[in-house]
Amino acid sequence: MPRDIDRIEPLRRQIEKHNRLYHVEARPVISDREYDALLEELQRLEEKHPELVTPDSPTQRIGGEPISGFQAVEHAVAMLSIGNTYKLEGEKNSLRAWYNSTAKALGLATDEALAEPLFDDGGLALTLEPKVDGVAVSLRYEGGRLVRAVTRGDGQRGDDITQNVRTIRAIPLRLDAGAADIPAVLEVRGEIVMPNDEFARINAEREKAGEETYANPRNFTAGTLKQRDPKTVARRRLIFVAHGRGQVEPPACDTHSQFVELLRGLGIPVSPHAATVESFDQTVQYIEQFEIKRPTLAYGTDGVVIKVDRYDLRQQLGFTSKSPRWCVAYKYAAEQAVTKLLQVDWQVGKTGKLTPRATMAPVFVAGTTVTHATLHNYGEIQRKDIRLGDKVVIEKAGEIIPQVVQVVMAERPEDSKPIKPPDKCPDCKTPIETESDNEGKETLRCCPNPECDAQLRERLIWFAGRDQMDIEGLGEKVVHQLADAGLLKSFADVYRLQSRRGEMVQLERMGDGKVSNLL
Ligand code: IVH
Repeated sequence: MPRDIDRIEPLRRQIEKHNRLYHVEARPVISDREYDALLEELQRLEEKHPELVTPDSPTQRIGGEPISGFQAVEHAVAMLSIGNTYKLEGEKNSLRAWYNSTAKALGLATDEALAEPLFDDGGLALTLEPKVDGVAVSLRYEGGRLVRAVTRGDGQRGDDITQNVRTIRAIPLRLDAGAADIPAVLEVRGEIVMPNDEFARINAEREKAGEETYANPRNFTAGTLKQRDPKTVARRRLIFVAHGRGQVEPPACDTHSQFVELLRGLGIPVSPHAATVESFDQTVQYIEQFEIKRPTLAYGTDGVVIKVDRYDLRQQLGFTSKSPRWCVAYKYAAEQAVTKLLQVDWQVGKTGKLTPRATMAPVFVAGTTVTHATLHNYGEIQRKDIRLGDKVVIEKAGEIIPQVVQVVMAERPEDSKPIKPPDKCPDCKTPIETESDNEGKETLRCCPNPECDAQLRERLIWFAGRDQMDIEGLGEKVVHQLADAGLLKSFADVYRLQSRRGEMVQLERMGDGKVSNLL
């Protein structure tokens, strides 16, 4: 039986190894339960020997106290954005145009010439990676230890979210020294993302609890990383995919693909779908193949990032005012589907604005079944000539609420009916007011009654929301329930609920526990 203190360090290495097998190599060899048992054993030993606890022990991912605020931190190397393209071919703004101008800037003549090897080791090497639809962060390791995690912010400076990022198991707190030479300073950039199933699970729980839901996994991830309590972050299983670098001392690599291999060796997750190619045709092939693979990934992607692999060539290419010339993002078109428009309701917003909401025959698009879409305003309905009963093309781009793109005119039924905009507020029946742009297109239709009940409820939902008072348990359903019962008529009433406990516990599905939590 080894002594406790001799067991601690091997145990930590063992846990780190299993983290790596799970998150970097995607081949776990033990069950979650066995993993938890190792972690518990370490916890017990560290409780017995608190003097042996180190900040990068796997037990220290969740720090003690909630954070009071996020400090702004300057990036050592700016975090830029990248140029987008939506088409493969064409003279302007296409992937082909980017490729040709890149080749030209590097003195590599024309397309046909590029079929020939241009360097000793082949053509213009490009690394292709999924464009991960997450939240960008910069991780800074010094001497192999994670010292800081910063959001992108405005590109020059971001927020220090280290405490929250430390809870993400996919991100090592110390790098695997066994594998390679660790640069003294290593800034790794990448995306933090929430897997789709995790998003669906937590959002459903929130909905059940009457809490605000998030529109998409990216918003949910961003909201999570700004939580003041790292324990909340720890409960949401976020993952990380590295895709670039900031400051690295000593520089370590000559190419991006070498850098990615270095990261993999150090135990930092990189995309398993990355590839290095040497021609435009291979790039197009990759883009077409990845489009098929994309829906099977555990998390959202919205395109492919194409990067010149060699750092010396990147240097030669330099930057435009906004983004590097050495890379470009090819974005896939939003997924579309055709379905039948059944009904349009006018929803009253918190400022009185009326928004038409379409109900359609359920249709499966981009991973979920869709029944509602926004129609924006009456001007849009007129411009697109949308009628009830029409077949409509809807489009979903990352968001949960899709858009109606256009009507399939060829299939317009004879009995299609024009959509009649309301002349009275659907809730308080006050005559509505409209605004139009200078071409006469209606841009706004609203209920001018400041005491409108529907508006008040929307204002209360907003007031209790995440970015305002952040009152947990006071979501849409609960606001309606309390307002229906006459317990909520103003913001001030929120703070008077303490004295209405008796009435609250009588409400359906409320109960003692739920009321206590809310109060
Ligand atoms: S490389 C100079 N590679 O997309 C910036 N970015 O819309 C180089 N992103 O700011 C970025 N996946 O946050 C790169 N495989 C990938 C990416 C990726 C997602 C993000 C990144 C970037 C944003 C631009």
